Amino acid sequence: MTQTDSPVTIGQPWPHTARRAARGELEIGGVLLPALADRYGTPLYVYDEQTLRASARAFRQSFAAVYPRSRVVYAAKAFLTTALVRIMRKEGLGLDVVSGGELFVGLRGGMPAAEIAFHGNNKSARELGEALAAGVGKIVIDNDYEISLLEALTANRGQPAPAMIRLNPGVDVHTHKKISTGMADSKFGFPIADGQAETALCRIQSLPKLRLVGLHAHVGSQLFDAEATVAAIDALLDFAATMRDRHEFVLEHLSPGGGFGIAYTDADKPPTIATWAGLIGAAVKEGCAARSLPEPMLTVEPGRAMVGPAGVALYTVGAKKELPDVRTYVSVDGGMADNIRPSLYDARYSAAIANRDDPAASNEVTIAGRYCESGDLLIERIALPELREGDLLAIPAAGAYTLAMASNYNFAPRPAVVLVNDGQARVIRRRETYEDLVQFDIDE
Ligand code: LLP
Repeated sequence: MTQTDSPVTIGQPWPHTARRAARGELEIGGVLLPALADRYGTPLYVYDEQTLRASARAFRQSFAAVYPRSRVVYAAKAFLTTALVRIMRKEGLGLDVVSGGELFVGLRGGMPAAEIAFHGNNKSARELGEALAAGVGKIVIDNDYEISLLEALTANRGQPAPAMIRLNPGVDVHTHKKISTGMADSKFGFPIADGQAETALCRIQSLPKLRLVGLHAHVGSQLFDAEATVAAIDALLDFAATMRDRHEFVLEHLSPGGGFGIAYTDADKPPTIATWAGLIGAAVKEGCAARSLPEPMLTVEPGRAMVGPAGVALYTVGAKKELPDVRTYVSVDGGMADNIRPSLYDARYSAAIANRDDPAASNEVTIAGRYCESGDLLIERIALPELREGDLLAIPAAGAYTLAMASNYNFAPRPAVVLVNDGQARVIRRRETYEDLVQFDIDE
């Protein structure tokens, strides 16, 4: 965040355009947050278009610089609206989807089917049918059941459908247990170690209407070093070389997934995208050279890093409860229904007052949500200026896995989403209404 008259960067969690305006209000994309709250209400999710586009460009350019045959596909599960898909497409990105619903929204947002990869650990026959009918670029097969489903679904096709295999490389990562996916005990992918991956590869190769084009792994999310990703790349390339020798497998595509960590607070120091690109690009090049494999097309699948830093959650402060010698609770008008991450992963966020500046004062408070759960705490014990009723509180780095995981718990309508750029604000998802809450009820 910077003061307009004294541009001092104070930390990474905020979107690139975040500033303190002359009277101390927070401004993003040239728009004052209090003006957005007045106009659209709170809780409100504000995305900065410049930051979104800058992330997309940083990924494309950093990977292209070290490994020209590379693609970047956005992992839609982090946050998805049709307007966002259009921006990603304009920036030259593809899309990774994990359900028929995400596929539908991706196509509706104008993403060409050929640029879509279809993931998931238990895709249904219906979803696989939808993916095949749409002509997605790749189906990433996770298990034997899917091979059987695809065998039946593709039987009457003309052209074979392109597929990749998701492998479990047996790599442990340094991140929260609930977002680790590549260790031996995981529900994702075919384990390489015990031969299941080889059996699956042979089975897919034997099917005339599937064309096996590559290998995939995703070891975890919110990673701060490339060690596990590089280990996964090595495991995939080892497997590719062995399968080439034993079964004439040709590795055309390789994807080490996503996982690129972001800063949620000033204390977080994730690697830059260029650093990630350098390490991943080198691992693929050197790994291929060492095994005499031709260099495949490399696909990375960032989700969080693409949308997290661009999004800010805006809340209004309400009730305050001081418990002497215990703590002070300050409640806001959102919470676990729009951001489950603190409850689910003990995720740590930071915050700032958005309607005024009061940098000197500092009180330790706990920011509580409005939902009927003791665990609905957005930020435990954070030092903030004294908060008053009606103040606006902004939480940065709130763009990923927040609304994407939102619910209507306590029948709270889900927040609106506004995209800001160059002094303009555009609603890209309207706030839900009470009427929306009963739209699926049948009562006759
Ligand atoms: N590719 C695959 C196959 C994935 O499973 C994921 C995320 C990604 C890419 C994108 O990962 P990212 O770049 O966003 O780390 N809800 C959790 C994160 C779950 C991630 C699941 N898979 C959270 O809020 O931290």
